[in-house]
Amino acid sequence: MKRASQVALLALCAQVATAVTPLIVKGTDFVNSVSGQRFQVIGAAYQPGGEAGYKPESGQDPLSNAETCLRDAALLQRIGVNTIRVYNLSPDINHDECASIFNIAGIYMMIDVNSPKPNEALSREAPWESYNHDYLERTFKVVEGFKNYPNTLLFFSANEVINDVPTAITVPYIRAVTRDLKQYIKLHSDRPIPVGYSAADVREVLIDTFNYLQCSLTGDATDESITDVFALNSYSWCGPATFNEAGYNTLVDMFKKSSVPVFMSEYGCREIRPRIFDETAALYSSKMNPYFSGGVVYEYTQEKNDFGLVVLNSDGSAKLKVDYDNFQGQLAKLNITELQSTSSSAAATPFPKCVSSLIKDKGYPNDFTKIPNPPNDGLAALIKAGVKSPKNGKLVTIDNLKVKQVVKNSDDTVITGLEVRRLTDGNVPTPIATTGSPAATGTTASPQETSSSAAVGTTQLGGFGFVMSSVLAALYLI
Ligand SMILES: *[C@@H]1O[C@H](CO)[C@@H](O)[C@H](O)[C@H]1NC(C)=O
Repeated sequence: MKRASQVALLALCAQVATAVTPLIVKGTDFVNSVSGQRFQVIGAAYQPGGEAGYKPESGQDPLSNAETCLRDAALLQRIGVNTIRVYNLSPDINHDECASIFNIAGIYMMIDVNSPKPNEALSREAPWESYNHDYLERTFKVVEGFKNYPNTLLFFSANEVINDVPTAITVPYIRAVTRDLKQYIKLHSDRPIPVGYSAADVREVLIDTFNYLQCSLTGDATDESITDVFALNSYSWCGPATFNEAGYNTLVDMFKKSSVPVFMSEYGCREIRPRIFDETAALYSSKMNPYFSGGVVYEYTQEKNDFGLVVLNSDGSAKLKVDYDNFQGQLAKLNITELQSTSSSAAATPFPKCVSSLIKDKGYPNDFTKIPNPPNDGLAALIKAGVKSPKNGKLVTIDNLKVKQVVKNSDDTVITGLEVRRLTDGNVPTPIATTGSPAATGTTASPQETSSSAAVGTTQLGGFGFVMSSVLAALYLI
């Protein structure tokens, strides 16, 4: 082999070995695009600083600081979280280091294309005004920023825009934004990236919203305005409830005939504290797992609203809450092999045709001819040509994966040797579930040691096979 080829080959190996495999939607599942294995979201909402953590004017958003991302990726990885949801991101900020760190940790990212700043989201009051060229261009810029990261799992076109029947006037606009984003991704991304809506769990309008967004105008999959996934932010399970008390049985009934993946884009009622996360066990149980692709716990950082798993201090140090330990305890009980092998896809329902009788609530929009066209000021041309000088993210090398900040357990002992474990497996980023009993009081023994379960060894073997086949493919090319 020539030297140049060897260098190219080495570069390829390094790249393949450290990148997660993109996920795709197949029927009602997320699946690994290489192995075909089902992927269940084991997620945490990630917005350090809350809304105030989004300061684009000073170059700050939740994925702008590599040191904090490294600390947080380590703390999420060690309990088996495989996905973060990030809300407020600026397309003008470079996210390469944080995206690369989460990628190395085997953690996928769900990206909201909106923010709370003016004209950076659809307005509930006047969606026809907020559905404009500048707003849409910003959403496309977010796509440009994240489309090249292999661990970008999906984009949310909107979050909790509909809270009741009156605000359902926005639903045609949500569908329009979804369509525009999907068209943009189809033309400008090397791989398909799903687009979905994150709904408030308001039972009065939830099923109508679902039906409105996942039906097909053409009666088949060619309609580009169908949502790729449907997600709900659900807080109906509080403390030690039962499946039926929490209304999870109703959720299963609502979504068991879905044509697209359904999951919880937020969950974690905090009426009873500390939280014990019995709903986590229910979400991944055999009653729910076939119909739901998992969920995202709200939320990683402790903010004023008291939903956090981890308290972050201004000096960069952090302390785990008992909620973190309890969540870890629930995740440790999951059988990942089983979760990945269960699937409802065989029974995936074809897309229902959009007809007004799909919509049940009086006053909820049911005229599917009202989905707006793109703004008539060059938006269609922009979708075709792409945004000017896009800022495309790319994976970068991260050498040091050791966490620098002090991190304490909930019992105040310091966690030693905290670091991100490099994913050697380009194939299936299996969550690293800790073995043993739920850590109700926090563990003092080196957590990095306890998290090296047998499961990690097995996936490394799989990963080696994957790397080797890539090497063979590369040799063939050379
Ligand atoms: C996990 O599930 C798989 C597949 O159902 C099963 O073979 C295995 O024994 C389970 N592991 C444990 C620890 O229960």
